[in-house]
Amino acid sequence: MRMSSSHWTAADLPEFDGRTVVVTGANSGVGFGTATALARAGAHVVLAVRDIDRGNDAARRIGGSNEVRRLDLADSDSIREFAAEWEGEISILVNNAGVAMVPEGRTKDGFEMQFGTNHLGHFALTNRLLPHITDRVVNLASGAHRVGTIDFDDLDFAESGYRPVQAYGRSKLANLLFTLELERRLRRAGSAVRSLAAHPGYAATELGTRDRNKYLVGIVHLAGRYFAQPPEKAALPTLFAATQDLPGASYVGPDGRNELHGYPTLVGRSAQASNVQTAQRLWDVSEDLTGVRFGLA
Ligand SMILES: NC(=O)c1ccc[n+]([C@@H]2O[C@H](COP(=O)([O-])OP(=O)(O)OC[C@H]3O[C@@H](n4cnc5c(N)ncnc54)[C@H](OP(=O)(O)O)[C@@H]3O)[C@@H](O)[C@H]2O)c1
Repeated sequence: MRMSSSHWTAADLPEFDGRTVVVTGANSGVGFGTATALARAGAHVVLAVRDIDRGNDAARRIGGSNEVRRLDLADSDSIREFAAEWEGEISILVNNAGVAMVPEGRTKDGFEMQFGTNHLGHFALTNRLLPHITDRVVNLASGAHRVGTIDFDDLDFAESGYRPVQAYGRSKLANLLFTLELERRLRRAGSAVRSLAAHPGYAATELGTRDRNKYLVGIVHLAGRYFAQPPEKAALPTLFAATQDLPGASYVGPDGRNELHGYPTLVGRSAQASNVQTAQRLWDVSEDLTGVRFGLA
């Protein structure tokens, strides 16, 4: 097992022999880089996307064996339909899709948009798909989890006032807590499936730019061009977490300064993200909010 390597790249991926991998948000950014590398390694890649046209365009560019299926993580009906139509095995589920620092908004079910999409959407999707999953679940978190807090009395910022950066941090902290509690439940259930997390560092993607002021978008793209990693490199932590023999609940990120760039390695997380009690409580609250229970119960 290589826990870290300054040289690990997509060329080191194992052969997938047609095994199925589902990547949420595979039409763009890190998800596109992940899906492309997996398809090249022989996986059958399912692009789980909210916009079928964008998905089809990405699928053409990705090539290999792939298919596009509609999934809107901000809509519990869409998640239920996606899972209900599923037949057969999923080797790996990559919970990659996300929104970041968006203006205040609500999912179709009335949850704060970032927490609702990034955490609750993937929580419901994973548990609904769990009976089909054979190898592992990889959740995309972020260094921004460190600015997040979980306030169970005000999960949607209704009392304290919406703050986009804190809301993003909360959703990414929730992704790590979900990884932890899912892993605990999988072990308790005697499952062979593992739960892991990854973050891409600073990636040049569309994150946080959709439907935003065009000057802001210009600045983000310019900064990205000079300082960020291209999506194919930013996808390496996800690919490493998805394929290497790592312990459950491992968290993979880039090995460079401040984890912004580099090659995949195991990285640390905040004390809050390691808090087992918070992880268990968040799980219970997420079950209540989504109406979806542990998929192997
Ligand atoms: N970029 C970074 O520097 C960075 C740093 C740390 C962590 N991350 C994490 O990396 C992951 C990928 O982000 P990215 O940087 O690649 O951003 P991106 O280029 O904006 O890709 C995000 C993807 O998520 C999809 N998505 C958004 N809302 C969705 C919904 N309701 N249902 C289904 N799909 C939805 C988007 O679909 P549309 O194309 O239809 O909008 C897009 O395909 C995220 O989880 C993010 O938090 C990114």
